[in-house]
Amino acid sequence: MRIDIITLFPELLSNSFEISIIRRAIRKKKVEIFFHNLRDFSKNKYKQVDDYPYGGGSGMVLMIEPIFKCINKLKSKRNYDEIIYLTPEAKVLDQKMANTCSLKENIIILCGHYKGIDQRVRDHLISLEVSIGKYVMSGGELAAVVFCDSIIRLIPGVLGNESSALNDSFQDNIIAPPIYTRPASFNDWKVPEILLSGDQKKIEKWREIKSTEKTIKIKHD
Ligand code: ADE
Repeated sequence: MRIDIITLFPELLSNSFEISIIRRAIRKKKVEIFFHNLRDFSKNKYKQVDDYPYGGGSGMVLMIEPIFKCINKLKSKRNYDEIIYLTPEAKVLDQKMANTCSLKENIIILCGHYKGIDQRVRDHLISLEVSIGKYVMSGGELAAVVFCDSIIRLIPGVLGNESSALNDSFQDNIIAPPIYTRPASFNDWKVPEILLSGDQKKIEKWREIKSTEKTIKIKHD
């Protein structure tokens, strides 16, 4: 998979991809990530990429022209399966969406900033809008990290043990059961006896029950 991220703040993103599973995915060549600074596509000598909203109102709006130029440059080199805009005004990312996006070859991610982007970008250039939650952040960069992490770990061969992504919470709309590791007792807080019993059948049953309990609890909270 190739991911091109268009942003005003590449430095906010780059470090996040240099750790743990994403770094491994990059090293294994399962994913390539490129950053494109929107300011490089400004025709303005001050590298301006935003302007006041028509009709008045507070905040600045990202202009269409630099975004158009950047997307066009990328599109002239290869086909993209999806051009994604991260915004709180969209369907909220879930596991199903992450699964679907993890199967794409090439995607572009546009991070918004300031008040938003010119609506014509959304109408004519974007194929998918994604929110990471019903709250507003100052920009799409951190949302891009969340989105990329959720899809990259699903690319076949990225996780050491293929089944570990299939067992993730939400893969079947079910939350994973509690997990424990050594020591079996810490501060007198004990690991449930059954997990130490070696009785795999009973353990599976226990895990199923705990998963169901957690799933019901989260749905009702
Ligand atoms: N940009 C700002 N807030 C966001 C959110 N909640 N999801 C995606 N992009 C965003």
